Amino acid sequence: KKRVAILISGGGSNMVALARDMAGDHPARPVLVMANDPAAAGLARARDMGIDAAAVDHRPFRGDRAAFEAALMARLQEAAPDILCLAGFMRVLTEGFVARWQGRMLNIHPSLLPKYRGLDTHARALAAGDAEHGCTVHEVTPALDDGPILGQARVPVLPGDSPADLAARVLVEEHRLYPAVLRRFASGDRRPILTP
Ligand code: GAR
Repeated sequence: KKRVAILISGGGSNMVALARDMAGDHPARPVLVMANDPAAAGLARARDMGIDAAAVDHRPFRGDRAAFEAALMARLQEAAPDILCLAGFMRVLTEGFVARWQGRMLNIHPSLLPKYRGLDTHARALAAGDAEHGCTVHEVTPALDDGPILGQARVPVLPGDSPADLAARVLVEEHRLYPAVLRRFASGDRRPILTP
């Protein structure tokens, strides 16, 4: 089986969705969950599922991304993952780090890329008056929220939606899409999953 490490920053609901899927018949298994915040709620959720979990707090590094990433990399390498999944990981990674994982690192982003790279995607979709919105899983390349698209799922934008309403509707789709994409990717198939 392929070894998967998952990077999170918060609640880790996507990480849980990935781990639950991998608990069944699957070409991969979770070997480590890492967070950049020791208080990330997802760390306890990972341990509850029997997955090794660790944090490298980014704050003591005071903006020295390379030093933070060196610490992250050292802990990651102990777990020797084949695939790295970013799941709500809210730190921008340097080109050097990304290069080390090129072709083996996935990210889920809460918009229909190439629309709305970066933050506040739900509010931006609402402000633009979009009729639909969604989420994207893509391979990570040095440019932010760029890289080959491996899957996309769409949701309608409904009258009166708040950003939180929309985020919740998208999150349901994230929990379906990301496991489906990882399952396919881990089996060596990089064709995208595009749901209507
Ligand atoms: C998810 O909606 C994910 O798409 C988003 O953060 C949330 C994490 O939720 N990611 C980004 O915005 C990446 N820039 P989770 O911790 O419950 O999986």
